[in-house]
Amino acid sequence: MINIEELKEKAIDSINNAKSLKDLEDIRVNYFGKKGEITSLMQHFKDMATEDRKKFGQIINDAKKSIDDLIKERCDSFNSLVLNEKLKKESIDVSLPAKKIGLGHLHPCTIVFNDVKNIFEKMGYSVVTGPEIEFDEYNFEKLNIEKGHPARDEQDTFYINEKVLLRTQTSPVQARVMEKGKLPICIISAGRVFRSDSVDATHSPTFHQIEGLVVDENISFTDLKGTLTTFAKSFFGEGIKTRFRPHHFPFTEPSAEMDVSCFKCGGKGCRFCKNEGWIEILGCGMVNPRVYELCGLDKDKCQGFAFGMGIERLALLKYEIDDMRLLYENDVRFLNQFD
Ligand code: DAH
Repeated sequence: MINIEELKEKAIDSINNAKSLKDLEDIRVNYFGKKGEITSLMQHFKDMATEDRKKFGQIINDAKKSIDDLIKERCDSFNSLVLNEKLKKESIDVSLPAKKIGLGHLHPCTIVFNDVKNIFEKMGYSVVTGPEIEFDEYNFEKLNIEKGHPARDEQDTFYINEKVLLRTQTSPVQARVMEKGKLPICIISAGRVFRSDSVDATHSPTFHQIEGLVVDENISFTDLKGTLTTFAKSFFGEGIKTRFRPHHFPFTEPSAEMDVSCFKCGGKGCRFCKNEGWIEILGCGMVNPRVYELCGLDKDKCQGFAFGMGIERLALLKYEIDDMRLLYENDVRFLNQFD
């Protein structure tokens, strides 16, 4: 009996001195495990007289319960200590200012393209695409720019081989659409074009254009003027004026360049428009009958107009950016300014 009392004291002592859950588990095994001290005391049971067994059983059960209860109690307090520690570490300071979520911004050229696209879509145009790696045939031949034509020199070309090149303009899409032979045609097409130019504030070997083409019966130069003036007013503002100057493109006849009145000075002349009062924004014209022939359409049955403009140029004008390189460097401090 004394043995059991001592055993109990010893157990209580070591439980009180336990420093961790692991210590407590070791103590539990030590007393209640297969070879534990309490377990082995129980072995004596079978050799005892019934009377003794009753008494002994009572005492050992009491001791067992006290030890077990104490182990549980200490386990609970260790667990809540660990939990408190964890809660402290993971506590959230709700008074801290929230982290700014870095939302992406659209590139100014994308914004401009979306704007132009929306304007033309509202007028009933659909958007088509064409390949960046193009045949000489579409980029030049079918647009009435044969070999040796001076217009080829104006667009310094990256050739892949004699027949294949990186398109220098989006105009080859016109030839691809006309070749399908389905009228009416009312499309715009935007994309990347390439020219062997060195980089400076106004040039880049790759930039973007938007092309437009309308072909049907009874289309006149008045339609061209009305359409492009409507576009300019929607894009730059109602107060803008347009003017058309004669120009030359091999694939249109007659051809023109369209200027808009300077939206900075209203046409009086300022640094922005180099004192001209006008800013050139696109090339256009009535589709040259020769192009219909080259693309398999009946030149006597259809008329139409076409136009082409540089997206970067529109972005530089709209946002008053004075160096085209800023559009390609992807400096977030620059890009962050456009929503
Ligand atoms: N492709 C011409 C260029 O890159 C722009 C252009 C002018 C396109 C007149 C047209 C047009 O469709 O009719 O300079």
